[in-house]
Amino acid sequence: MRTVKIGDMHVPAIAVGCRRMNTLTKEEGEKFIKTALDLGANYFDHADLYGGCKSDAAFADAIDMNPSIREKMFIQTKCGIRPQMNAFDLSKDYILQSVDGSLKRLKTDYIDVLLIHRYDALCEPEEVAEAFGILKQSGKVRAFGVSNMTPMQIMLLEKYLKEPLIVNQLQFSLAHCQMISQGIYTNMEIDAAIDRDCSILDFCRLKDITIQTWSPFQMGYMDGVFLDNPKYPELNEVLARLAEKYSVTKTTIAMAWILRHPAKMQPITGTMKIDRLKDCIKASEITITRDEWYELYVAAGNALPCRPQPGQKVN
Ligand SMILES: NC(=O)c1ccc[n+]([C@@H]2O[C@H](COP(=O)([O-])OP(=O)(O)OC[C@H]3O[C@@H](n4cnc5c(N)ncnc54)[C@H](OP(=O)(O)O)[C@@H]3O)[C@@H](O)[C@H]2O)c1
Repeated sequence: MRTVKIGDMHVPAIAVGCRRMNTLTKEEGEKFIKTALDLGANYFDHADLYGGCKSDAAFADAIDMNPSIREKMFIQTKCGIRPQMNAFDLSKDYILQSVDGSLKRLKTDYIDVLLIHRYDALCEPEEVAEAFGILKQSGKVRAFGVSNMTPMQIMLLEKYLKEPLIVNQLQFSLAHCQMISQGIYTNMEIDAAIDRDCSILDFCRLKDITIQTWSPFQMGYMDGVFLDNPKYPELNEVLARLAEKYSVTKTTIAMAWILRHPAKMQPITGTMKIDRLKDCIKASEITITRDEWYELYVAAGNALPCRPQPGQKVN
C-alpha cells in the first residue's frame, strides 16, 4: 500500500479503525486483522473507551497478541475521555492510568502513537507534559499526537511538551469537509465561510502534523453513511460514474477523494467487513483527477463561489 509520513515513520496511507472490534467473534476478528495485515494495512487505531473499553482487548485476543505479531504492526490509541463519558480528563494521573490500562488490554508493552482524544476544558498543559515525559522515558509510548484540536490548543500544549505532536485526528469526509470549504469561501457572507476550526488544515500542513480523518463515509456526527443515501442523490450519481470508470466501488472513490488532497491525510476506516476494508484499501491504488475531485466536492453540496447558483443574479 502507498505510505504517508507520520513524524519520521512511514506508515500505510489508510489506517484501520478498531472502534467496533468488540462486535466481532474471536474467529471473525482474527480473520479481519490477518486480512488487514496481508493487505499491508498494519496501522491500527484504538481508544481506551472503544466498545466500552472492550474493543482493544477483543483485538489482542483475536490475534493472540505476542511479540512477533506485535512487531508487525503500528498500534495507536487515545486517552482523555472518561469511559463513563461524563468528563474529559487530561490530568497526569488519568493519562498514566489510561495508558497502563490500554497496554494491559492490548497485551503489549508499548504504544506507537498516543493521541489525546479531545481537549479537556480543565487541561493543565504542564501535567500533560509531565505524563508524556514519563511515558516516553519508560518506553511505554513512542510518539504523541492529538485529536479534534484547534491550532491554539496544539500550540498551548507545545509550549510545555518536549515531544513533538505528529498527528491531529479530525472528522473529514465528502459529507463533512468544512475545513476545506472555509479556505475556499474565505471572507464571504455565507455559512461555508465560517471558520469553525481556526484553519486547522493549513496549520497542520505548516507544522508537518499528519491529519488522520475519522468517519470517512459518515454524514453529521455519526448519523450514518452518505453512500447510497437518498439525501445525497447527486453525489451518489457521480460516485457511481467514477466507480465504473475506475472499475472499483463507490466506497473506493469516496476514500480516493480524501487521499487525493495534497495534505497527505491518513483516513481511518471504520468497517468491520473484510470486503469493505478491501474496497477502502483499493483507494491507495488510484488517483482521481483534479476535475473529478472538484466534481465530487460540488456534488456533495458545496457550490463553488466562482460559479453562480441556479437562479442567482450576479451584478
Ligand atoms: N478521534 C475521534 O474522535 C474519532 C471519532 C470516531 C471514530 N474515530 C476512529 O475512526 C474510525 C472510523 O470511524 P467510523 O467508524 O465512524 O467511520 P466510517 O468508516 O465512516 O463508518 C463506518 C460505518 O459505516 C458502515 N458502512 C455502511 N456502508 C458502508 C460502506 N459502503 N462503506 C463503508 N462503511 C459503510 C460500516 O458498517 P460495516 O461494519 O457493516 O461495514 C460502519 O458501521 C473508528 O473506528 C475510530 O478508530 C475517531
